[in-house]
Order: sequence, then C-alpha cells, then structure tokens
Amino acid sequence: MVCLGNICRSPLAEGIFREKAKTAGLDWTIDSAGTSGWHEGELPDRRSIEIARHFGLDITDQRSRPVNRGDLQEFDYIFAMDGSNLQHLLELADGMQPLPRIHRFLEFAGDPHLKDVPDPYWDDQGFQAVYLMLDQSSDIVLEKLCRLHPESAATLISGN
Ligand code: 4NP
Repeated sequence: MVCLGNICRSPLAEGIFREKAKTAGLDWTIDSAGTSGWHEGELPDRRSIEIARHFGLDITDQRSRPVNRGDLQEFDYIFAMDGSNLQHLLELADGMQPLPRIHRFLEFAGDPHLKDVPDPYWDDQGFQAVYLMLDQSSDIVLEKLCRLHPESAATLISGN
C-alpha cells in the first residue's frame, strides 16, 4: 500500500487490509510505504491513528518508510493510493522484468466513481471518508485477489 508520506492513507490501508486478510485466515504479508521519505521513522498521523482506533483498529505498530525497488520485486501486488503515487511507482519500476503488478487501489476494486483516495493531510474532516472507502474497497480487493489466485486462498478453504 503506497501513498506520498506513508503516514495518513497507506497506514490505514495496511491496517485495514491486514485485519481483513487475517480474519479470512489468509497468511499474507501486508505492508505500506511512501513515495517520499519525508516522514521516515514516524508513527502514522495522529488523525489516522484516531480514526482507526474509532473503528477498533490499532495501527501504532507502524512506522513510515520510503518505498524502494526491492519492494516492487518482493510483493506480488503494489497498490497506489492515487495517480501521482502510481506515476512514481511506474517510474521506480522502469526496466524491471517482469514488470511488477502496480495498480491504483480503488481502480483495482472497480470503484465506478473514484480513482484516487483523496489525500486528507490538509483536511481534518477527510479521515473518516478515507477510512470508509478503504474499508469497503478492501473487501472487494480481497475477494478479487482470492478469485485471481485460488492457490493463495487455499489455506482459507482447507484450513491448513
Ligand atoms: P499520505 O498524506 O500521503 O496519505 O501519508 C500526506 C502526508 C504528508 C504530507 C502529504 C501527504 N506532507 O506534505 O508532508
């Protein structure tokens, strides 16, 4: 899960998605990073921590870090929160073979209205809307990934 600062949107996406994957019995590695290193080492933004806590999620184990090319090789899917993050990731992936799977999160979820998770950094009121859109889209993305990769979801079915 990648955004600009890795303190507002992507920590929420990481926390929400990890919780859903865990609840579904999936042993997947979920992580997040920023296209910038401006907040490296910092906790998620206080407003992200608060809205997550409001919905029963603790994201205070997370620390901001910048994304790197190793991430693009390591992770099966890279999800950008907005078009600018997507552009940055595509440039970072320049020349990589195979090309990493890089998608805008809401587009991958098939959201008919929104392509970008809006940056709430300058908008205190935006955090709840961001949380809710990530929560809804995470359900859809999780289901889609299980459909696309039934082998990965096998633990879910067999319970092993
Ligand atoms: P994020 O939000 O990309 O969702 O973590 C931002 C965090 C910090 C800044 C901008 C956006 N900043 O300008 O420092």
